[in-house]
Amino acid sequence: MSASTALLASPDIQQVMELLKKMKPDEIRAFKEQNDLALKKQLAERKLYALFPDEGPLRRALYPKHITFFAVGGRHEITPWCPKNCDGSGHQERAMIAGNRVGKSMSVCFELTCHLIGWYPPWWGGRRFDRPVSAWVAGEDAKAVRESLQITLLGQPDSLGTGLIPKTNIIGTTSRPNVPEAVDAVTVKSNWGGSSRVLFKTYDQGRESFQAATIDIMIFDEEPPSAIYSEGLTRVMSTVPGKPSGIVMCSFTPLSGLSDVVLSYLPGGKPVTA
Ligand SMILES: Nc1ncnc2c1ncn2[C@@H]1O[C@H](COP(=O)(O)OP(=O)(O)OP(=O)(O)O)[C@@H](O)[C@H]1O
Ligand SMILES: [Mg+2]
Ligand SMILES: [Zn+2]
Repeated sequence: MSASTALLASPDIQQVMELLKKMKPDEIRAFKEQNDLALKKQLAERKLYALFPDEGPLRRALYPKHITFFAVGGRHEITPWCPKNCDGSGHQERAMIAGNRVGKSMSVCFELTCHLIGWYPPWWGGRRFDRPVSAWVAGEDAKAVRESLQITLLGQPDSLGTGLIPKTNIIGTTSRPNVPEAVDAVTVKSNWGGSSRVLFKTYDQGRESFQAATIDIMIFDEEPPSAIYSEGLTRVMSTVPGKPSGIVMCSFTPLSGLSDVVLSYLPGGKPVTA
């Protein structure tokens, strides 16, 4: 940006007006284009804050099931999707089982990002953590994870920071060996101080690779084999008396029919409608 166009961006409106009088039309046009580009970049790097807005064509009211999915992670009114024994306290295990392209991955990644950075929108009624968190996000294989979860959370490999995790919160990433452009782990700056961490995992690594650690959040994007599901659930169980357990969130279209995982959420395999 030249000295004069830098001044043009100044908040001093009088100074800006004076400058505009002196500039040629093509100079003004070039400045506007530059400004629009900068604005677009800023928006792309802060996508999280624009999701589920109060108003506009993508307003939250148009996504009642997605909002319910978030809400039942915290204290909630009983919903048609709650199991019979629900007492209204936050559900530790939640699944968004729905058709293709309805925003399943986006929703679980939205909630995950809120936990990672320690920020919740004003309307948030779901689960809250009051500290940095550690999370695993898993899908079928490394390529599937790179194409879905990684892009949703981080953006395209050549523009990391344009996914849901705001660019200013990304402290660093490590690459997955042998898979071009695949990220293995992300360290995320948390508003609570310190950093959260998210690790990308795959079902094809087998059950063993889901053992050993204690984590706060387990995400299964696409239906996991039931052995891996149980392992993931074990990972979020609190082993410290008085410390609440973490959460499991699933997002998938039930392509394998009435599997054990589907049946554990939908007893009898019947979809719930509301
Ligand atoms: N709340 C939202 N507001 C605006 N756009 C959204 C929202 N949720 C999802 N989208 C857009 O809709 C598209 C599909 O979203 P997403 O990938 O999350 O769906 P999905 O149900 O996981 O799809 P798939 O069945 O392919 O796994 C994406 O392009 C995403 O940007
Ligand atoms: Mg998806
Ligand atoms: Zn409930």
